[in-house]
Amino acid sequence: MAAPLGGRGAPHRPVLLRESIEFLAAERGGLFVDCTLGLGGHSEAILEASDNARVIGIDRDREAIASAVERLARFGSRFQAAHANFRELPAVLANAGAQSAGGVLVDLGVSSLQLDSPERGFSFQHDAPLDMRMNAGSEEATAAYLLASLPEEEIARLIFEYGEERRSRRIAKFIVAARERGEAIATTKDLAETVIRAIGRRPGDRIHPATRTFQALRIAVNQELEGLDQFAVTAIDLLQPEGRFVAISFHSLEDRIIKQTLRRLSGRCECPPRLPRCSCGARRAVEILTRRPVVPDEIEVAENPRARSAKLRACRKLPEQ
Ligand SMILES: C[S@@+](CC[C@H](N)C(=O)[O-])C[C@H]1O[C@@H](n2cnc3c(N)ncnc32)[C@H](O)[C@@H]1O
Repeated sequence: MAAPLGGRGAPHRPVLLRESIEFLAAERGGLFVDCTLGLGGHSEAILEASDNARVIGIDRDREAIASAVERLARFGSRFQAAHANFRELPAVLANAGAQSAGGVLVDLGVSSLQLDSPERGFSFQHDAPLDMRMNAGSEEATAAYLLASLPEEEIARLIFEYGEERRSRRIAKFIVAARERGEAIATTKDLAETVIRAIGRRPGDRIHPATRTFQALRIAVNQELEGLDQFAVTAIDLLQPEGRFVAISFHSLEDRIIKQTLRRLSGRCECPPRLPRCSCGARRAVEILTRRPVVPDEIEVAENPRARSAKLRACRKLPEQ
């Protein structure tokens, strides 16, 4: 089985690894797409499950690609990497000369490599420029840029929605007050201190007061929720009959998008009640294999606390009728 592989910090353990491989039915062999290659833990296990398995691994983080390519070199041409956004899946498949896949995996969110690399600005554990772009060095806006340019209400909205932070308005107010005083929030330390000034530390808090704000900004910077539903539809459309789609999410909004998309594609209408006609695109294309989301057991959470909020959902593509 795949061994944990470290970046510069804690070892990276692929989340729900055994379950992912089982739901992908990787032992069948054929072409799999790992849409969130990261350090290649899931890809490695897919390649080990069958000598006839091939993997195209996509990531928008060049550093992740480089680590995975090194790790998976022993599989030769059975593994291919693509630096892309997984929303470009059809183009990535076409570039590889493929039209369909036997399985697609997406393990959403951020990797340990990203969290533990101080200069990437994802974590308040290290002081660094407030960057947070998974596609580091690209033209995309950094977290510091968003905080310097968005209106206060928009900052409050994204901290509330993406961070599920009840005190989002107060945090946004402090951020905007700081920038109006000419004190730019340019580093992770600036942001963590501003959040603490806004909402304080409460005795008995299980998490750092800035945790939810950092999560919200990361999701906003990387536009993690935008088009996720359409991506899932596209990925399923690209599956061969009996192909598998497996999604691991770490945030309730992500999980809801995946759940509703799988339901619609299993034929269940997700329109609001009392609409005269279905307009949500419900059709019977898949069988859902996870009636409830699969979550890590206590042993996995004890070994890897970052797995604690993971939820896996999977489906099987039905033969065309
Ligand atoms: C949780 S990690 C994946 C870990 C991986 N399964 C492993 O076992 O090492 C998520 C990875 O997906 C990448 N990622 C997130 N959103 C992406 C997107 N829209 N397109 C491409 N890669 C993305 C991140 O850069 C990160 O490396």
